[in-house]
Amino acid sequence: MQLEPHSNFKNFFLIQHPIISYKLALLRDPTTNRKLFKELTEEIAILLGYEATRDLPQTTRPIQTPLETFDGKDLESNQFVIAPILRAGLGMGDGLLKLLPMASVGHIGFYRNEQTLQAVEYYFKIPPNSEKALYLVCDPMLATGNTAVAAISELKKRGVGHIKFFCMVAAPEGVEHMTKHHPDVPIYGASLDRELNENGYILPGLGDAGDRLWAVK
Ligand code: URA
Repeated sequence: MQLEPHSNFKNFFLIQHPIISYKLALLRDPTTNRKLFKELTEEIAILLGYEATRDLPQTTRPIQTPLETFDGKDLESNQFVIAPILRAGLGMGDGLLKLLPMASVGHIGFYRNEQTLQAVEYYFKIPPNSEKALYLVCDPMLATGNTAVAAISELKKRGVGHIKFFCMVAAPEGVEHMTKHHPDVPIYGASLDRELNENGYILPGLGDAGDRLWAVK
């Protein structure tokens, strides 16, 4: 079964499933503690990744079962790079790595200037590009979209062509911004929330994902 894009955004795929919605509601609850928050983040990332990889090309190879030979399925390529955007992306990155344990992991460091809401790069360490590799970039909150757009622009500057972006909660403003700058990059998310507030936080959202994931406040 192929995923259908969202009716308003042709590169946004809203992954709707009762288990994801249940886990996301727990994440939004401010009484959810850090341990559970991290576990839920990983689990949602696995579920999103599972749906988003439906289109991976496959090959067939003969397998000898204990009883007979069988045409088994293989992935055409096992080259994946998981690229969490620091800090909040790390939790989703751990989940995606459980789904794709053969992946390499890169790290993209951006922080948000709280006055301008612009993304400021401070770290970029990505495994060398291979044309075949699929890059899975993740950041749980697609808010203004400034960080996601900047991170993907940096990857493209390094020749990366095959990218999928993962978030848990998206704001329409962030999806629009991504669509404008990177219409070729599909976005997979568990929720499309209402709007951004004046400080660039998603409403209803779940608060500051990085702070909650790493128990900073
Ligand atoms: N970053 C977060 O962690 N939360 C938001 O709501 C927006 C950006």
